[in-house]
Amino acid sequence: MPTSYSETITHKIPALLNSELRASHAGETGAVWIYRGALTAEFIKALFKRKNNKTAADKGISAFALHHLETEKQHLHIFENDMPSFRGSFILLLWIAAGFLTGFIPRLIGKDWFYYTIYCVEYFVDEHYEHQISTIQQHGGAPKKVLTLMRSMQGDEQDHRDEAHANMQHSPSFLMKCWGELVGKGSAAAVSIAKRI
Ligand SMILES: [Fe+2]
Ligand SMILES: [Fe+2]
Repeated sequence: MPTSYSETITHKIPALLNSELRASHAGETGAVWIYRGALTAEFIKALFKRKNNKTAADKGISAFALHHLETEKQHLHIFENDMPSFRGSFILLLWIAAGFLTGFIPRLIGKDWFYYTIYCVEYFVDEHYEHQISTIQQHGGAPKKVLTLMRSMQGDEQDHRDEAHANMQHSPSFLMKCWGELVGKGSAAAVSIAKRI
């Protein structure tokens, strides 16, 4: 009779579920670092502003980033503690760097750039979860709680997407749209790479 320990280490989750969990864990890691990147840019910008010159919009964007950061940390915690064990991505450092720059660069440029980036990222993440949930359902063999937790995180991402859109002051410029395309295509490439490595 195997011990519970050997059962744990020999029990393998289906390969598809393993790669889907790895991709979403990499994504949630990147998401945490998007907001850390944005808050770093916020801090740098504040250094160059006169004291007490923080506008209500500046305070709003910090509160937005801090609030979203907390939710993304909870998502990461779910993948690391409440999901079946999976192999994490070997290139997690790359996803951290990519996430950081995805928050840092647009926040340095401007508020709408940042909000539009979050809108594009979360638009992608919502579709990613939708596709992932239906793939896992079709394939079968996943514990029910995996799908329940993914649905709940998908709901948070939809809120993030809508909040970011509602905070935009102007329609996106042509350059912002090009950046948004890059963010969407980059996110899709990251998911397919993270599924493998
Ligand atoms: Fe998330
Ligand atoms: Fe999110």
